[in-house]
Amino acid sequence: MISEHLLKQQLGFTLERTDLKIGQRIEGKVRDCYISKGKRIIVCTDRLSAFDVVLCTLPFKGQVLNQLSAFWFGKTKSIIPNHVIDVPDPNVTVARDCTPIPVEFIVRGYITGVTKTSLWYNYSNGSREYCGHRLPDGLRKDQKLNVPIVTPTTKAEKGLHDELVSRDSIIKRGILDGDEFDTIAEISLKLFELGSRLAARNGIILVDTKYEFGRDHEGEITLIDEIHTPDSSRFWFRETYQEIFKKGEEQMKIDKEYVRKWLAESGFTGDGAPPNIPDDVKVEGARRYIEAFECITGESFESKAGNVSSRIARNLEKGGYL
Ligand SMILES: Nc1ncnc2c1ncn2[C@@H]1O[C@H](COP(=O)(O)OP(=O)(O)OP(=O)(O)O)[C@@H](O)[C@H]1O
Ligand SMILES: [Mg+2]
Repeated sequence: MISEHLLKQQLGFTLERTDLKIGQRIEGKVRDCYISKGKRIIVCTDRLSAFDVVLCTLPFKGQVLNQLSAFWFGKTKSIIPNHVIDVPDPNVTVARDCTPIPVEFIVRGYITGVTKTSLWYNYSNGSREYCGHRLPDGLRKDQKLNVPIVTPTTKAEKGLHDELVSRDSIIKRGILDGDEFDTIAEISLKLFELGSRLAARNGIILVDTKYEFGRDHEGEITLIDEIHTPDSSRFWFRETYQEIFKKGEEQMKIDKEYVRKWLAESGFTGDGAPPNIPDDVKVEGARRYIEAFECITGESFESKAGNVSSRIARNLEKGGYL
């Protein structure tokens, strides 16, 4: 496991923003993308977003996200082709630029969550229908579902919250036809099944996750964005799951919950400017991202303290991208 000393050292070098001289720059909450000649150069910054706002940066977070996605894209390529062309730097993926399908395919293996679109929120308020799935009575929070379910949501514009959508409404809006929807839903379940199986080997439960798909220049459906990262997924520990579930307590999580919880306890719920996050909270948040990487991949996380920006520029130049 990475030393606290290294995490503290890196606090002064986190990657907040990039401004590379390549093609057209598009800034997401977490990633800076550069579109040039059919390629999308995706730089995973160290920005942490929660409550739909960027809160701060965490040491090595960008590297964790980029390398975790690269790991999973490699493992899942026999299920569906993905956008990866090259990973020229720990924080960068060069991808095929695709036309995104404006629906997030969320797969849920457990009934949980707190937000208004979450399965548990709806169920605990009496609803037994969720995105076209019929749910039995008597489920408890964090219980495993008999089979994982696919629950699509529309991808909201910046600043707005995502909205649940049914298969019918996706077809009616002309986003996908019935066959395409069914194919992508089936692929999502296969990805989830593989992800759950590999994570379980390392004692991790893949609770739920979201996938994004696009069409490449030949119209082929392609897996894009990120896959099975702590930003797009919920993970719990297998060893303690049953005991905690029986007691009805909160599961131990490895995701961005740590900083989110710290903020909530400081009284921040997403409105106005977030409070200043102390260094020890950032260091602990970063440690958890790295722990997630190591638990999920079974590999050790390798990095050195230093300027991420200049390393990225060097590696992109070496790869002929700059
Ligand atoms: N290969 C690709 N082709 C086209 N668009 C892509 C591809 N891969 C990722 N994207 C898009 O690039 C953007 C990545 O940015 P980022 O994840 O930072 O932003 P966000 O999705 O707005 O934020 P958040 O993930 O916090 O909700 C997303 O809009 C995603 O759909
Ligand atoms: Mg995103």
